[in-house]
Amino acid sequence: MKLGKIVMTGQAMPEADQWLREHCEVRSWDQSGNIPRELLFEWLADAEGLMSVGAKAAKVDEELLAHAPKLRVIAQSSVGYDNVDVAACTRHGIPFGNTPGVLTETTADLAFLLLMCAARRIKESVAIVDSGAWTPSADIPLGVDLYGKTLGIVGMGQIGSAVARRGMACGLKIIYHNRRRRSPEEEGGAEYVSFEDLLRRSDFIVVLIPLSSESRLMFRREQFTHMKKTAYFINAARGGIVETAALYEAVRDGVIAGCALDVTDPEPIPADHPLLKLPNVLITPHIGSGTTETRNRMAMLAAENLVLGLEKKPLKTCVNQEVNYR
Ligand code: DGY
Repeated sequence: MKLGKIVMTGQAMPEADQWLREHCEVRSWDQSGNIPRELLFEWLADAEGLMSVGAKAAKVDEELLAHAPKLRVIAQSSVGYDNVDVAACTRHGIPFGNTPGVLTETTADLAFLLLMCAARRIKESVAIVDSGAWTPSADIPLGVDLYGKTLGIVGMGQIGSAVARRGMACGLKIIYHNRRRRSPEEEGGAEYVSFEDLLRRSDFIVVLIPLSSESRLMFRREQFTHMKKTAYFINAARGGIVETAALYEAVRDGVIAGCALDVTDPEPIPADHPLLKLPNVLITPHIGSGTTETRNRMAMLAAENLVLGLEKKPLKTCVNQEVNYR
């Protein structure tokens, strides 16, 4: 006996997909692109669960919830949930579960990898080899050391702390800015500074905060002008935190040394975007959590949250605890 009808906005990882199909009656969008909104509304008319899948996550707002009168739970396989109006879910009494924790180390690996690639000018170096220009007289680009430099982390949550550990292992001094200062234990030797100080003092800035009305466009022209000319800017959080045109100009005009991004605005970034033409801009396609093990863990946690919600049991990782099942 199945627990209920669910809608999946994309294909989950195979193990989670199979497990969900064993427990629920599944309708999933398996085609390319996002499920058309009208079709999603149609499918949600009699659905009890919504599984929002990775890059194909649905915009969850009042309009969507109004089309889903039977919905008892929403689960999403990501830690970020800027696509979800959580207050609206709460008003409708619907618990919403995300997937924190299981992707921390993997995402920290990618953020730190971007930092190292920027520091050692890996994109430019690889291009020399790939284009056949590597000759004994080739002008090979020189990078900068990490050891003894300052890493500024904007957003010292779980992922930020994991990046800080990596930085310390490489001899970087860690400073951070957060809405709330962490306890000395959580700081682990990192120094809490104001946002302005962080901009001024950092040799590398890594952004790891969620996208919210507060953080949207937190980095504009003014913020880049406060940074060192030699600084590298790394964004592994959300593209909307940065004004893309201002970042482009800052890198193009030498206001900062370069950037490495796992997220962009717009996302995906179009192939003819001017940012892609700059040699000191490295962009990866939002792969922070992109390992098979981690994507499996995220998918299974989201699937468990969904099934628990259908059973009216507490979700394991619920964002709006006030409406979680007891
Ligand atoms: C997350 O989990 O939020 C990652 O950025 C993937 O969206």
